[in-house]
Amino acid sequence: MAAEHAQDALALDPRRLHEMLDDLRFGRRVEIHDSIGSTNDRAKSLGRGGAADGTVVAANHQTAGRGRRGRVWHSPAGAGLYVSVVLRSPAITAGYAAAVQLAAGVALAETLRPLVPRCPELLWPNDCLCDGAKIAGVLVEAESGAEGLDFLVCGIGVNVNQIESDFPSALMGAATSVRMLGGRVADRTELLGRLLQALDVWEDVARHRGTCGVIPRWEELAPSARGHEVELESVDGFVKGVSAGLGERGGLRVVSDGAEREVLLGELVRVRRKS
Ligand code: BTN
Repeated sequence: MAAEHAQDALALDPRRLHEMLDDLRFGRRVEIHDSIGSTNDRAKSLGRGGAADGTVVAANHQTAGRGRRGRVWHSPAGAGLYVSVVLRSPAITAGYAAAVQLAAGVALAETLRPLVPRCPELLWPNDCLCDGAKIAGVLVEAESGAEGLDFLVCGIGVNVNQIESDFPSALMGAATSVRMLGGRVADRTELLGRLLQALDVWEDVARHRGTCGVIPRWEELAPSARGHEVELESVDGFVKGVSAGLGERGGLRVVSDGAEREVLLGELVRVRRKS
């Protein structure tokens, strides 16, 4: 019985979540699963079936959580936030997808800031780190139909109540959680509600103003995006240079050997402040 209660306390609370999302787009259809393979996969399958813009899929546990670039996203039961939203805009374009990537990072950082000392910073494209350790990440996937891009799924994972030993040994020191930084167990329902409220605001900016509307705030939350020596793994190979802010397409501009280029697909893997 005691164990059951402990488990109940760990589970997301649909009623409280509903109250927090009351008249928001992300409150109209919310699925909460006890355990699922991947919330992104479930959201994609709902999207293919015509699910409305703003449909939310959350889970207390993922058995096949996915990160960017084919990585595994460790998703222990009751410890993290695992959530995906279906986004359908009248104009789903590559530009909108790039803006959503950035908007999700901003929403994450703004939600976590009040909870963790040494507030999280963003690392291009949208990793959320505290003192160099990863606390959250975003996986945006686009689904195409005969007429082009049909809908997006924006999946977000946050390490909330994990303790050091919950992470696989390969991630020790490289991953952290709200609990590890804040010193106490956090309310995952409250955090999910706040995250979806922030996403509602920033996705709207992405939808109506594109990357240009999101970039100024994104850059404020990402000190490494300007004037730092950076190394990136891009689809075209390894890139090394000095960061020079984001371009209009949401890529990171990098100056090397006097020439500037914008890396659109890839991720920042190393940062050093320029001396
Ligand atoms: C990354 O930083 O590599 C992205 C991690 C994204 C993880 C989330 S958890 C909810 C959603 N479902 C998944 O399978 N992945 C995303």
